[in-house]
Parts: sequence; structure tokens; C-alpha cells
Amino acid sequence: MEAKDRIIVALDVDGLDKAKSLVESLAPHVGCFKLGLELLTAVGAPQAVEFVHTLGGQIFYDGKFNDIPNTIAGAAKAVAAMEVKMFNIMASAGIEAMMAAVANKGKSLVLAVTVLTSFEENNAHLTFGVPSKAKVLQLARDAKLAGCDAVISSPQELELLGKQKELKGLLKITPGVRPEWAAANDQKRIMTPGEAIKAGADYLVIGRPITKPPKEIGTPVDAAKKIAEEIASAL
Ligand code: C5P
Repeated sequence: MEAKDRIIVALDVDGLDKAKSLVESLAPHVGCFKLGLELLTAVGAPQAVEFVHTLGGQIFYDGKFNDIPNTIAGAAKAVAAMEVKMFNIMASAGIEAMMAAVANKGKSLVLAVTVLTSFEENNAHLTFGVPSKAKVLQLARDAKLAGCDAVISSPQELELLGKQKELKGLLKITPGVRPEWAAANDQKRIMTPGEAIKAGADYLVIGRPITKPPKEIGTPVDAAKKIAEEIASAL
């Protein structure tokens, strides 16, 4: 895998017209595009997926499935038929639901979302009854048991996950990544691309630093290339 293939660009837009030039120009320079609930709901999943595929991009289908195993099986089958590179499920849906996703994944990778990083520690503790790191570890173990290909966590949990022998082989994907030259925006506990890769991330989800780069960096393609260079030198 080349360094650029580790970059997942978050396409946080509400319409395809806004994404066209981004996908067209970035497709040769990044691994894939993350289509989130906003775009999938506004435009319709098959349309959004076809649009990106036609422009030469690969897809991370960020549908965050969370349902009973039978429903997850059907949803996984439907999304795998669209030939997306990866799609995700909430690990909290349970081991059986994750197994249903894995059994129907076709050629796609199944990613398990552990704890949403929007949870502040106090709320995570209240909701889960344990500190968020403990919950992330438990859910990652469930994901591995169920046969998922990867987990999504905050950069802060990468090292902890990497230390667990039983999680060997489970890929790690993280958002909350900011190059030194980019604004933090609303992201709080961030790491640079180099730090995240060194901490064990296999793929990085990056939105605004690429889609809206600072003027001095140049175009989205310039930003993606710069990040790929940083990843390459951290590997
Ligand atoms: O623009 P930015 O790089 O902050 O975009 C990060 C992307 O990753 C957004 O699509 C955001 O919804 C997503 N994400 C995140 N933190 C999470 C889960 C998803 O930033 N815990």
C-alpha cells in the first residue's frame, strides 16, 4: 500500500455538485472518499456511490449500521453489492450483528466504530459505566472476535489498541488528524498524520485540511500530497 492509499478524505457536503471537482482532482492522490450520513441521506446512497465511482474514486461508506443481525445482514449485502472499499457498523450493535456484517461483506472491508470521540469522558463514563478507554478495548475485542477487518477509534487509543496481542491483524483507522499547518477546527484531541501513523494507525480520515486547505498550502491536491509525504516519512 502506498502512503497516499492511507488517506481517507471526508466528503462532508450536502450535495454532489459540491463534491465533483474535489473527487475528480483528488481521486488519483488519496485512498478513498468517506461518504457520511449527510450526503447519503440527502442524495441517496446508490446515486452518491455511483457518482464517486464514475469519477474514479473509491469509497468508505460511513453508514454506521446499528441494528439487529438480520437487518445488518441485509444492509451489508446491499452496500457490498455497490462495491464500496469499506463500510462500518457500530461495535455496540453486538458481536452477532458484526458477524452478520462480516458474513455479507463481499469484497468490502468491515470497520467497527468503537466509542464516538464526540463523547466527553464524563458522559462516556455515565453512558458505558466504565472509562471510555476500557469501553474502546472491549468493543475492539468484540470486533476482532466477530471477524471485522478494522476498528475506528480516536488517535488517543491507538497505542493502547496496538499493545493488545489478541487484536493483532485488526486494522486501525482514526479521525481527529491535523497536520501542523492546518487549523484544528472543532477537533479537540488531535494528532498530526505522522504522529498517528507512528502510534499505529493504518488509515487516516481527514476532511477540512484537504478539502479546505490554508491558502499558503495551495489546492486540495497540494494538501493531499503534503500529507502523503508526511505519512511516508513516518512509516
Ligand atoms: O474535517 P475533519 O478532518 O475534522 O473531518 C473528520 C471527519 O471524520 C468528519 O467526517 C467527522 O464526522 C469524522 N469523524 C470524526 N470523529 C469521530 C468520528 C468521525 O471526526 N469520532
